[in-house]
Amino acid sequence: MKLNHFIFIICLVLGAGAENENEDVFVADTEWKEIKEGQKIPPGLHIRINLQTGKKEAKLQNEDMKKEQALVITKGQKAKVHIPFSELKQTLKNIKSDEGQESSKTKGRQFRTYEEIKTELGGLNLIPKLDSEIIKELINDFKKNEKLENRNITKIKNILEDLEYLSHQIDNAIEFVNQNGFRDIVYKALNDSTAEIKIISLRLMSSLMQNNPKVQIHALQTSCINELLKILTLEKSISIKYQAITALSSILRRFPLAQKRFMENGGLAVISKVFQKGDIKLKVKLTTLVMDLVTEHQLSSLSEDSKDALKQYEEINIEDKLIEHDWCENVKTLLKSLVSVDEDNHDFIEKSLRAMNILVKHCAGSYDDKVLNYLVQKYNKLGVEGIDEDDEYSLSSYFSELKDLCDDLLKSNKVMQKTEL
Ligand SMILES: *[C@@H]1O[C@H](CO)[C@@H](O)[C@H](O)[C@H]1NC(C)=O
Ligand SMILES: *[C@@H]1O[C@H](CO)[C@@H](O)[C@H](O)[C@H]1NC(C)=O
Repeated sequence: MKLNHFIFIICLVLGAGAENENEDVFVADTEWKEIKEGQKIPPGLHIRINLQTGKKEAKLQNEDMKKEQALVITKGQKAKVHIPFSELKQTLKNIKSDEGQESSKTKGRQFRTYEEIKTELGGLNLIPKLDSEIIKELINDFKKNEKLENRNITKIKNILEDLEYLSHQIDNAIEFVNQNGFRDIVYKALNDSTAEIKIISLRLMSSLMQNNPKVQIHALQTSCINELLKILTLEKSISIKYQAITALSSILRRFPLAQKRFMENGGLAVISKVFQKGDIKLKVKLTTLVMDLVTEHQLSSLSEDSKDALKQYEEINIEDKLIEHDWCENVKTLLKSLVSVDEDNHDFIEKSLRAMNILVKHCAGSYDDKVLNYLVQKYNKLGVEGIDEDDEYSLSSYFSELKDLCDDLLKSNKVMQKTEL
């Protein structure tokens, strides 16, 4: 990421007003102003975050920028680097939880802080416990509660949620593994008859493995991939499948050995089936996973991965295998259904277009000109309407980028169609 890149968001969701007079509330102006540590942010502001320094700034909203839209802008020029909506949402969530530190007590479980969990679990003992002790207690608590004849599902869910919260920290996740958490908790809870427990267990699994190679290896060694494939094959519930895809993504990303195992165990056939039966959201989720994996493979030769890893990537040969499993058709039909049922979901359409673009070498010629032409016109129009006087940012660049993407796909399509004639 280059210097001077800001993320812009409009603060619609943040925004708890001050609950008492002593709270430090950010006072907005028409100019950008830094948000100080611990300040509350009133709703309805523009917020931007410097991706380099993490510095957050806010100002009052312009009249004509009402939509909840987000763009990345290079200062003084048109935006070229683009960050997907989903990442911005994550950033938004992060600010939300920063902000939640102080008001967590009034907002319920979701905003409990790390310190609060520690204090609460420590009972009246005010000396904060070591994380490893807390993890141990939670694991024991789970075992105890799970065995009870009259299980308290809420209690069990709370334990899993606390563990999930703690496991975002890499060291805690490793501690959890060392204390046999996968065996005693994750796989047990995955097997639970209550859907809610299954779902939280999958969330716990995802956060344990995410960007944590040690945990990824442990999960692979304990047949995590097979467990996930089993769930994806047998479960009927879309929300369980959705969480299982998230967990799958956590173990597969940047872990070629796991990808290899996934392929060997028929993973591509499983996800193709899930795709065919899934709703739009699930389809977009799977398409994103596929796109991320292909991107990782395409970039692997540029990265500093070891020779071994490079060899593994080559052996996996993911692109050809995806094509064998109909992914040209999948991405094409996904775009078509999106345009017919949810055409203003720019985030989904963008993901779908990017997936088509990443597979263009294999799939050009088979994409649907009519749908792409329709989108070109649509984004062209939106791009012109979105032009803003404040040239520090502009909505139009987001739509123009989508239009360019469609144009490129049309061009590649034409070239291939000509060659085929
Ligand atoms: C179940 O556990 C929750 C959370 O600990 C508690 O609030 C609730 O009263 C318990 N329900 C029963 C029936 O014990
Ligand atoms: C999962 O459930 C099945 C059937 O209820 C049982 O046979 C199996 O041992 C369970 N697996 C785990 C890891 O608890």
